[in-house]
Amino acid sequence: MKLLVTGGAGFIGSNFVRYMVRKYPEYQIVNVDLMTYAGNLENLKEVEKAPNYKFVQGDIADREFVNGLFEEEKFDFVLNFAAESHVDRSITNPDVFVRTNVQGTQVLLDAAKNIGVKKYLQVSTDEVYGTLGETGYFTEKTPLEPNSPYSASKAGADLLVRAYHETFGLPVNITRCSNNYGPFHFPEKLIPLIIINALNDKELPVYGDGLNVRDWLHVEDHCQAIDLVLHNGRNGEVYNVGGNNERTNIEIVKTILKHLNKPESLIKFVKDRPGHDRRYAIDATKLRTELGWNPKYNFDTGIEQTVNWYLNNQDWWENIISGEYQQYFQKQYGDRLEVE
Ligand code: NAD
Ligand code: DAU
Repeated sequence: MKLLVTGGAGFIGSNFVRYMVRKYPEYQIVNVDLMTYAGNLENLKEVEKAPNYKFVQGDIADREFVNGLFEEEKFDFVLNFAAESHVDRSITNPDVFVRTNVQGTQVLLDAAKNIGVKKYLQVSTDEVYGTLGETGYFTEKTPLEPNSPYSASKAGADLLVRAYHETFGLPVNITRCSNNYGPFHFPEKLIPLIIINALNDKELPVYGDGLNVRDWLHVEDHCQAIDLVLHNGRNGEVYNVGGNNERTNIEIVKTILKHLNKPESLIKFVKDRPGHDRRYAIDATKLRTELGWNPKYNFDTGIEQTVNWYLNNQDWWENIISGEYQQYFQKQYGDRLEVE
């Protein structure tokens, strides 16, 4: 089996590549990543020399590149993780979100259709459902009501994936997961940002009143879910993936401070994010009952492991903050690659 993983140098993609390379030595795994600011090959050091793994730098929205790659590699499975993923950036610069998240998905769908893949899996997000009030859960039947340019672009991609199944019979699945956390999480996102700022005794920016709720999912549990859907998901189906770990942002920040033994005086309430979704909560019954998904982390064990990972991997995040990881990238691949 030959798998294409796009965006495999990012947070979730790199966790997934490491998981699959270890678990399926008989599969060939090709990781295509543009290496934007969020891509980091240090995430993949553990597998970079594995015989069943290959990295190719490339842009999923570049049709010529993608078509050429598919013709050459004849993938059985395509897993699209590649995306612009940060809501705040989508507010200041939406264009690149439409290009990568919508156009890039369409280019991949066309290429997958042309060579006739066994499965195309789109890694999506619960944010396509919009926001919840104090009660209720997102199910796979919840209408799509995205509120940010990021989530609108992800919803647009989901609709294209659905359409390629209905119109062309492409075997597809869509997974929609809640907020991931764990090792290799890029420092612009809430949990790593708070850990790193707290370690540096810097202010901890909390948007609005800090009472927005997210449903935290450990990235390894997410990887297991994607593996299950890839192999056993029914064609054309959407599967929600959720941690069942609802927490307000302020609870998250205080939990991290407790683990690090740092004072709450570091917390600073700042201006709210425009269009800030109030609450996400996932009903993952379908994934559990149909495919037997059984997450191994609860939030208490997961956050402890994550904080310890950041404590033990200071070089990793210091390199990102100082931009040194881009030099690592240049050293590894030299003049063949362009780094943003
Ligand atoms: P990330 O930002 O850490 O990584 C994205 C990766 O995609 C990077 O390596 C980047 O270089 C690459 N990329 C960006 N544009 C590209 C392009 N045009 N061509 C090829 N590669 C490109 O993102 P993440 O947090 O790992 O998220 C992965 C996927 O999961 C995304 O599709 C995101 O929407 C989805 N998702 C993330 C979360 C979360 O909590 N992080 C939750 C739900 C869904
Ligand atoms: O729900 C899934 C989504 O989770 C994914 O689709 C996105 O790719 C991923 O980035 C994440 O989106 P969020 O906007 O929920 O994640 P973020 O880490 O940016 O913010 C989490 C919450 O914390 C949110 O309510 C905003 C708040 N926040 C965030 C930052 C960066 C703060 O209060 N302060 C901050 O500095």
